[in-house]
Amino acid sequence: MPTFDFAGTTSLVTGASSGLGEQFARQLAARGSNLVLVARSADRLDALAGELRARHRVTVTTWPADLSLPDEVGRVAEHAAATEVDVLVNNAGFGTYGSFADLDAGREHDEVMVNAVAGVDLAHAVLPGMLARRSGGIITVASSIAFQPAPGQAVYGATKAFALAFTEALWVETRGSGVRVLALCPGPVATGFLAALGDPSATSSAVYRRTAGPAEVVRAGLRGFDRDAMTVIPGLRTRCLAQGHRFFPRAVMARMSGRMLASSPAAQHDGQQARNPGTRT
Ligand SMILES: NC(=O)c1ccc[n+]([C@@H]2O[C@H](COP(=O)([O-])OP(=O)(O)OC[C@H]3O[C@@H](n4cnc5c(N)ncnc54)[C@H](OP(=O)(O)O)[C@@H]3O)[C@@H](O)[C@H]2O)c1
Repeated sequence: MPTFDFAGTTSLVTGASSGLGEQFARQLAARGSNLVLVARSADRLDALAGELRARHRVTVTTWPADLSLPDEVGRVAEHAAATEVDVLVNNAGFGTYGSFADLDAGREHDEVMVNAVAGVDLAHAVLPGMLARRSGGIITVASSIAFQPAPGQAVYGATKAFALAFTEALWVETRGSGVRVLALCPGPVATGFLAALGDPSATSSAVYRRTAGPAEVVRAGLRGFDRDAMTVIPGLRTRCLAQGHRFFPRAVMARMSGRMLASSPAAQHDGQQARNPGTRT
């Protein structure tokens, strides 16, 4: 397929208020796409919209919404179905870090809603229009964590495995239709994601110690979309790590993954002190 021509199209980007979503908005606007920006932080979306309108002469609309809430996802999906959305970037998401039993049940639930359920509902709202027009596509931001179980990020890893499997299946279902479907699977990226994990000790783990920049990750994703790829895993190290599941039994892989995600004891101690400054350990 030829390189995707974004000029004059409309792209809906979720999680556009920060990190990878903001980068998608910037790079898509630079390629001439009009934008619909979705996230909870209306002020940040409005500031970005104003900047991109002025810089690139594109139309930018903001739809503030909390994608953990079914009613709000339904409202965005309804708007999206009624709008000609050429490209959907299912990017909104967050992670949690720690043993599943110790994490807040409500936040784990919301993680599934934002990272998995919202993406399905939005894809379902826009895909029929894309198929009818025989053009457009869906980019879903999964993660390199999708390729193996993630002890210490059990629910986060499972939502990303879901996003990857869902996207790969859609990629096959849409072959020959003119619609592109891509799963972008980055390793750690320097965005608001790490702070949102809620545990600073996460950054001492082998996985989160080294990060890529959001601009290069999004550029790699858009290059993949241009060549109609099914999956993009940016960076050689991340690509190699994501292949581990091919060579090891799953129980071995799960243990190795748990070791790589574990924070160092010193960082755990510092994290505890930061959370409970009065305690002596
Ligand atoms: N950074 C990494 O290491 C990394 C690696 C692999 C994959 N990813 C994935 O990349 C995607 C983007 O994350 P990021 O790294 O760019 O992190 P980020 O800077 O924290 O951005 C997350 C975005 O998701 C939005 N969001 C979170 N909860 C939401 C909710 N309930 N409703 C609507 N929007 C919500 C946030 O907006 P508001 O707070 O304004 O709602 C924000 O725009 C996520 O799916 C993440 O899982 C990240």
